[in-house]
Amino acid sequence: MAFQITIKPSEHSFTCDDGETVLASAMRADLMLPYGCRNGACGTCKGKLLDGVVDYGVHQKSTLSDDEKHAGLALFCCATPRTDLVIEVREVRRAGDIRIKRLPCRIESIDKPVPDVAIVKLKLPVNERLQYLAGQYIDFLLKDGKRRSFSLATAPHDDQLLELHIRHVPNGFFTDLLFAQYKGREILRFEGPLGAFYLREDSDKPAIFVTRAAMSSGLIAASPARPDPEPDERKAVMRTTPPNRNASGHACEVGHPIARSAEAGEHRSSCFVAELAFVGPGEAR
Ligand SMILES: Cc1cc2nc3c(=O)[nH]c(=O)nc-3n(C[C@H](O)[C@H](O)[C@H](O)COP(=O)(O)OP(=O)(O)OC[C@H]3O[C@@H](n4cnc5c(N)ncnc54)[C@H](O)[C@@H]3O)c2cc1C
Ligand code: FES
Repeated sequence: MAFQITIKPSEHSFTCDDGETVLASAMRADLMLPYGCRNGACGTCKGKLLDGVVDYGVHQKSTLSDDEKHAGLALFCCATPRTDLVIEVREVRRAGDIRIKRLPCRIESIDKPVPDVAIVKLKLPVNERLQYLAGQYIDFLLKDGKRRSFSLATAPHDDQLLELHIRHVPNGFFTDLLFAQYKGREILRFEGPLGAFYLREDSDKPAIFVTRAAMSSGLIAASPARPDPEPDERKAVMRTTPPNRNASGHACEVGHPIARSAEAGEHRSSCFVAELAFVGPGEAR
């Protein structure tokens, strides 16, 4: 049985199949609700239930408490409707023209610049390219419906091979396999591009972000590559302390030109803190 879901205040409405989550059905209808982990852990997709009943789905109690449920909140990445719904949630944007695809890929190489970080390059089938926006990510589709998300670390135009920077999570299902067993040439499947945290190329507003993820590499890699002939065009300015070095003077071990280690004295390349500021002509603030 399908249910009707209406979003306030936009009045957008869409149908949700039985057993489908609110978020999944909204995405199918080309409506972009905010989300992060899609498994009830991060709370990004939290919104208000104005009318109707849901099954709250599997989620972490710390992410949605009983009090919050009583106050009418739900996590739309794991909530499935039991009736028609009216929900209140901020819509991020309409998903653009980029089609989300499911593709096979082959691991072309795995380099480990430090023991707990792998730079993984993926090759797509001939005649396939993944169109994406700098800052987006892919989900590996693993056994038993498991998904694992990784940010695309290369600029979108550089799409011969997709590059991921993957940190080993001890006892992690996927990263244990990657670090202990994978040698390269393994075939995986993924879905992408995903995510609404991407570079707004058409905005002339100043934008500053501080991040500690591989997606910063994709965003940064995309930025200087843009033609920059006009004096009033935004400049991408990286701040490092000093360039390429962390606070205690150690170079980033990955050798990324614009990443620095977060923890003074401990130069784990998984701890990038990249500060990228788009500022007006000439001023690095
Ligand atoms: C949108 C998005 C983009 C991401 N991009 C990247 C990326 O570019 N590079 C990267 O290395 N990781 C990235 N991650 C995190 C990555 O998806 C997880 O680290 C990964 O799922 C671990 O998979 P696993 O199967 O090895 O561990 P799991 O089996 O999923 O986890 C094992 C245990 O570790 C915990 N855990 C899992 N991930 C983390 C974490 N990140 N920090 C702390 N504890 C954790 C779990 O709660 C669990 O207890 C991203 C996550 C999201 C949501
Ligand atoms: S997207 Fe993370 S809890 Fe729903």
